[in-house]
Amino acid sequence: MDTTVAVKWLTERGYEVYTVTVDVGQEEDFSEVEERAYKAGAVKHFYIDAKRQFAEEYIARSIFMNGMYEGKYPLGTALARPLIVEKAIEVARRVGAEAVAHGSTSKGNDQVRFDVTAKALAPDLAIVTPARVWGMSRVEEVEYAKSRGLPIGDVHKKYSIDDNLWSRSIEGGPLDDPAVEPPEDAFRWTVSPERAPDSPTYLEIEFERGLPKSVNGERLQLVELVTSLNRVGGLNGVGRIDHIENRLVGFKSREVYEAPAAVILYNAHVDLEKYVLTPRELRFKHHVLDPQWADLVYGGLYVEPLREAIEKAALEMEKWVTGVVRLKLYKGGVWVVGRESPYGGYSRELADYGGGWYPTDAEARGFIEMWSLHSITARRRRGL
Ligand code: ARG
Repeated sequence: MDTTVAVKWLTERGYEVYTVTVDVGQEEDFSEVEERAYKAGAVKHFYIDAKRQFAEEYIARSIFMNGMYEGKYPLGTALARPLIVEKAIEVARRVGAEAVAHGSTSKGNDQVRFDVTAKALAPDLAIVTPARVWGMSRVEEVEYAKSRGLPIGDVHKKYSIDDNLWSRSIEGGPLDDPAVEPPEDAFRWTVSPERAPDSPTYLEIEFERGLPKSVNGERLQLVELVTSLNRVGGLNGVGRIDHIENRLVGFKSREVYEAPAAVILYNAHVDLEKYVLTPRELRFKHHVLDPQWADLVYGGLYVEPLREAIEKAALEMEKWVTGVVRLKLYKGGVWVVGRESPYGGYSRELADYGGGWYPTDAEARGFIEMWSLHSITARRRRGL
């Protein structure tokens, strides 16, 4: 509704408005959107299918960076925003626009992502933000739309949804009370664990250099791979997320997501990294690189040069993240139950208690002596 009203509001102020819908895999009636754009006064509407680019550039990076904001949110909305801006700017150039506009309000993260990306990619274009300046309340907005005969759909919609290939974000309505369990009607991609099948589903995901290439032996492009994992995960109740999220704009919010493919791939990829990377590599990536990367993406700083530097460092290690991970999905849970890799650091000869290599008592004592020395010394000095 904000965007529809914004189009009308801009035309009433003398702007010639071109509208753009970027298809990043959202469930939407695109012809209905186009119709709405023209009814609101758009000169021309553009539809751009960016699903493949979204998967192969943005989702792919999030997979090898284990992208999870605050450990929980797979960043679907945050990742799609810079791509949407990139496409809108392509259109702006084609039609010779002087400005880009969006319908975000001043309370969300998305305005930051839109504005920052536009400033970086097209510093010469003005950024016009009707919903941040018109000063209408929700009720006044509905009045405005009605008085102009704008099609705004169901204004009493229970939830605010933003979906794409990677995740479905659900906010508002009953979810605004963080103490209350999300009602079943909030979910579309996943069944409740209670209604999931009584027998488990096994999956085999093959990774090459940090990226998933096949599922159960079938090689797939990333769009199809993600789509198919969303389906099988959803059927097993996998991928429901409910957490308290620290927004960029100064307050906490209760956020609910559905992201079966993201949850499955995250678990599989992390497990394979643990199998392959050295403990130092693993700690550096999981404790430093991955969360820094997620914070940049969440924070609307996709254009920050550090993001690419982090990815380059990560890719140096991802070279070895090749192998197969076997998972079990069952009633909302995901378990990794097996992994194989030509680069696996695990050695049965080293790990086996039953025989094989054993350090001598002297070797063990010498190691333990020096290993503990800092701690023992500090305790003595502190009288502990
Ligand atoms: N909290 C998530 C984020 O900031 C989801 C936002 C959903 N956006 C929306 N306009 N409904 O990425």
